[in-house]
Amino acid sequence: MLPTLLVASSLPLLAVAQSAASLAYTPVYGKCPTGFTLVRQAGSSAAGNQTLNSQEAAYISGRISNVLPNAWKTYLSNLEATNASLPSYVSDILNGNSSGYPNLGIACSGGGWRASMFGAGVMNVLDGRNAASVALGTGGLLQAAQYLTGLSGGSSLVGSLAQANFPTMDVLAFGMNSTDPTNAWGGWLAQINQEAPYTNATQNMEYTQLLVEEVRGKFEAGFAVSYVDVVSRDNGRHFVNGTDVNNFADESLVHGAGYTWSGVANVSTFLSYEQPFPILVATLLSPNGNMSTLVPNSPFIVPTSNPIMELNVYEMGSYDPTLAAFTPMKYLGTMNESICATNYDQIGLIMGASGDWDTYYNTSESSLVSSSMYPILEVLNNTLPQTNVVLVGTLFPNSFHGPATNLGTFIDAGETIIAMSDGGSNGEAVPIQPLLVKARGVDTIFAIDSNQDWGTAYWSAGGSLINTQSRLNALFPTTYSFPPVPTNVSEFIAQNLSTRPTFFGCDSSTEAPLIIYLANGGPPRDGEAPLTNIAPNNVTTEQMRAFLNQTYTIATQGNPANASSSIDLEWPACLACGIVDRARNRSGVERSGICSTCFERYCWNGSTYGLEVTSGACSLYANGGWQMVGAVAMSLILMTFI
Ligand SMILES: *[C@@H]1O[C@H](CO)[C@@H](O)[C@H](O)[C@H]1NC(C)=O
Ligand SMILES: *[C@@H]1O[C@H](CO)[C@@H](O)[C@H](O)[C@H]1NC(C)=O
Ligand SMILES: *[C@@H]1O[C@H](CO)[C@@H](O)[C@H](O)[C@H]1NC(C)=O
Ligand SMILES: *[C@@H]1O[C@H](CO)[C@@H](O)[C@H](O)[C@H]1NC(C)=O
Ligand SMILES: *[C@@H]1O[C@H](CO)[C@@H](O)[C@H](O)[C@H]1NC(C)=O
Ligand SMILES: *[C@@H]1O[C@H](CO)[C@@H](O)[C@H](O)[C@H]1NC(C)=O
Ligand SMILES: *[C@@H]1O[C@H](CO)[C@@H](O)[C@H](O)[C@H]1NC(C)=O
Ligand SMILES: *[C@@H]1O[C@H](CO)[C@@H](O)[C@H](O)[C@H]1NC(C)=O
Ligand SMILES: *[C@@H]1O[C@H](CO)[C@@H](O)[C@H](O)[C@H]1NC(C)=O
Ligand SMILES: *[C@@H]1O[C@H](CO)[C@@H](O)[C@H](O)[C@H]1NC(C)=O
Ligand SMILES: *[C@@H]1O[C@H](CO)[C@@H](O)[C@H](O)[C@H]1NC(C)=O
Ligand SMILES: *[C@@H]1O[C@H](CO)[C@@H](O)[C@H](O)[C@H]1NC(C)=O
Repeated sequence: MLPTLLVASSLPLLAVAQSAASLAYTPVYGKCPTGFTLVRQAGSSAAGNQTLNSQEAAYISGRISNVLPNAWKTYLSNLEATNASLPSYVSDILNGNSSGYPNLGIACSGGGWRASMFGAGVMNVLDGRNAASVALGTGGLLQAAQYLTGLSGGSSLVGSLAQANFPTMDVLAFGMNSTDPTNAWGGWLAQINQEAPYTNATQNMEYTQLLVEEVRGKFEAGFAVSYVDVVSRDNGRHFVNGTDVNNFADESLVHGAGYTWSGVANVSTFLSYEQPFPILVATLLSPNGNMSTLVPNSPFIVPTSNPIMELNVYEMGSYDPTLAAFTPMKYLGTMNESICATNYDQIGLIMGASGDWDTYYNTSESSLVSSSMYPILEVLNNTLPQTNVVLVGTLFPNSFHGPATNLGTFIDAGETIIAMSDGGSNGEAVPIQPLLVKARGVDTIFAIDSNQDWGTAYWSAGGSLINTQSRLNALFPTTYSFPPVPTNVSEFIAQNLSTRPTFFGCDSSTEAPLIIYLANGGPPRDGEAPLTNIAPNNVTTEQMRAFLNQTYTIATQGNPANASSSIDLEWPACLACGIVDRARNRSGVERSGICSTCFERYCWNGSTYGLEVTSGACSLYANGGWQMVGAVAMSLILMTFI
């Protein structure tokens, strides 16, 4: 029996008329459009019939025709203005050599607010709108990237960026002034704590009650609601348009409700193909998983054999062969081809799926009850009582239900509801998976990692890449190609692979993409006091500026040839060498000039890798939205880990 928390039960239930937010958050049933297809079979790379969603393919081809030629030329001219003496193949390729442009994907890891900020700080270095980055010769890469993936804290980043119409990183973090702040982008509001925005506990409990009331419409329409729906309403205030520091408490506003992930396809920079195609990543939380495929000796709760789910603006599903199917994002919540739900894919909920850490508390009743989320669960359960509904995880009516969809291998084919958990719940906090899908042809991955791997100092040390390697070797050796990385975190640390940018996959004779790995592995080398090793849940705007500033330093220092200098002045050139390297290989040219010396300096030269499964990856704080990792959870996770 679960104890009733005093603070929750002593509150009067606010029996209010449905708020504007509640109405806007409610999914709507209607007749499905003619020719509607509930499930798209994605085929398999092994069978040679893997396909992309036709709208995604159209977006990419629109981008290749309308955006990339200028984007790569602009990046090249930024680079050339630094007078870097690059081999001529670099300019051949970036000027549109017939061997094709680099196909670049950028991945933003989980790691809570730290990851949202670190990812933004790194992207600022790649952003052609930032004068300092342009002068340095790194600016413009963001505009030229084909894909942008985000997980957990990285999904708050990528999701808010896409829906806010791809603003600069500064505007993304701090917001913009607008004549209509109820609709415009108001910034992340990092200074307002997500779980407890007020210093007054009673007000915080009233805030929770308010969020729960905003879920009422969905509940009354007959949909199962969970803790993540409550988080979703809070995400709506931090990562979706329409909330700023002045109107945060205005209960008459929708605060991001009604803004759908599929609707992002309608923002102007998306219509003009100017955004890298955004993809968010979550894991499938299933009662039918094979628990013996969990990462051993780790805190992770989702078996590696469960499909990794991707949520892009067009569809939700997985390219893993154990599902290999997708359902349209716009019609999430739909179970058949006659009656279609819309408005289910609320942006706050989709981000919540990727950043949902509450599932970690549900491993036992005692950990759930003692967790900081429990009072919120109680308010939800008391206000909107449901039977036979698990209140944790992000819940979706299962579009992949039943034999009709020919999904025999899907572990949840028999379920009417599927649930998701934080993208990092299987040990992979860097969202690499969508970038390895062969039909996407990504050849270079810029992997930004600020997930916590070791100790208590919040630094990253490659644990996620190690777990990706182990999973793919063990389960999907032919479906995906992944370059060799070390087999344990100690190797990353001993070789300083996370304190400077590292290239993995320098052997271009393989099919695997080149990975340019840039981690939050330690403080900048110039002696500044570390600011990025934190788990912030409320920072002042000054602190956030300082964090972003230091991230800029970390991401531009490179790997100096001379150990006594703190900055490698050749890093922008070396980065360009990495970016074009697969295209260089396609055109049959040898690596040469400065690119040869860059590769000697930046490549991980390890040559062997085995099947050993790392036990070193301790991925704490991978939650993107709601910061609920308190001391209890911390010791719980660390106990499991140690
Ligand atoms: C892909 O090919 C495999 C093997 O021939 C077949 O079983 C599968 O149904 C095909 N999938 C699609 C979507 O065409
Ligand atoms: C590059 O070279 C040109 C011509 O020599 C010079 O004017 C310019 O200042 C140089 N730029 C940098 C960043 O060194
Ligand atoms: C593209 O690169 C190849 C190989 O270096 C070269 O033969 C060709 O002339 C280049 N094409 C253009 C348009 O620059
Ligand atoms: C918005 O306007 C205020 C007051 O004029 C100003 O202080 C602030 O810097 C502006 N913010 C942005 C993001 O432009
Ligand atoms: C969010 O606000 C920005 C800036 O005001 C706007 O350009 C964008 O279209 C809005 N996004 C949505 C989904 O309405
Ligand atoms: C937010 O930060 C302030 C100042 O550091 C601190 O006093 C307050 O307790 C914090 N609030 C929460 C909910 O963490
Ligand atoms: C806390 O908030 C409640 C509800 O708004 C209010 O009644 C109470 O006076 C506040 N307490 C303090 C110490 O401000
Ligand atoms: C985009 O806007 C148009 C016109 O308002 C609408 O018909 C369409 O459904 C919208 N698309 C999405 C994906 O929301
Ligand atoms: C579960 O995973 C283990 C380890 O990979 C494997 O040996 C076993 O066959 C799997 N069980 C099922 C039912 O697939
Ligand atoms: C289709 O789904 C709707 C909503 O879940 C349900 O009400 C309806 O009965 C279903 N129709 C069929 C033919 O299964
Ligand atoms: C929700 O409330 C029901 C009683 O209405 C209770 O049986 C159940 O345990 C509660 N669930 C949680 C997670 O508190
Ligand atoms: C960033 O920090 C450095 C000191 O580390 C300082 O010199 C610089 O002015 C800061 N830049 C901004 C934009 O705050």
